[in-house]
Amino acid sequence: MKYIPALSFEWLTTLYDPVMLLMRESTFKRSLVEQANIKNGYRVLDLGCGTATLTILIKKAYPGAEVTGLDGDTKILGIARAKVANAGLDVSLDPGMSFELPYPDRSFDRVVSSLVFHHLTREDKARTFKEIFRVLSPGGELHVADFGKPHNALMYLISLIFRHLEEAGDNINGLLPEMFQNAGFDRVEETDRYMTPFGTLSLYRARKAL
Ligand SMILES: C[S@@+](CC[C@H](N)C(=O)[O-])C[C@H]1O[C@@H](n2cnc3c(N)ncnc32)[C@H](O)[C@@H]1O
Repeated sequence: MKYIPALSFEWLTTLYDPVMLLMRESTFKRSLVEQANIKNGYRVLDLGCGTATLTILIKKAYPGAEVTGLDGDTKILGIARAKVANAGLDVSLDPGMSFELPYPDRSFDRVVSSLVFHHLTREDKARTFKEIFRVLSPGGELHVADFGKPHNALMYLISLIFRHLEEAGDNINGLLPEMFQNAGFDRVEETDRYMTPFGTLSLYRARKAL
């Protein structure tokens, strides 16, 4: 197994939130939260929650939802816990690995995930998508923001550098939708695309059939 921390190196983790400002974070995370269409009482997992920016956004937008963040890095979960306490929100934060989720089958109505899958090897991506499928209820949905296939010439040029960053190659080759389908999801679609300094960022939606 290969574990890649938030900014590739553990010693950079405290700089994560400032660096994210370069990624148009507030714009794409707001869109992701909107497209997730969360209702009162829904159980929502933020997979690879990092510093919990998205987790907090979800809980603030949908106070009636039961929101859980999970991350494999205990150091970043420390930052997440401080931010959640500071915001005075009732959110659970669990340590755990994406490909061995510590939850029973059908535990969630929504799984959201931002900028995590490009950290995973192809094998761990496939294992993770199967785990997400397992913990979702029938009719539940996966909503993802992550690097995707370049959508213009500038993004293509940038991708020539960043395809070697972490495990981003499969994302940049546009393989995520096919991998969601292989895990059992249907209604898989790319819903939006953004230009960022690190290349195209895509939003995806996928459903576990009823
Ligand atoms: C780039 S950060 C994204 C954090 C957050 N989702 C966001 O959008 O700001 C990637 C996160 O995924 C976590 N991560 C990487 N591999 C993981 C795995 N196999 N299981 C759980 N978390 C993982 C890292 O610890 C890190 O916090």
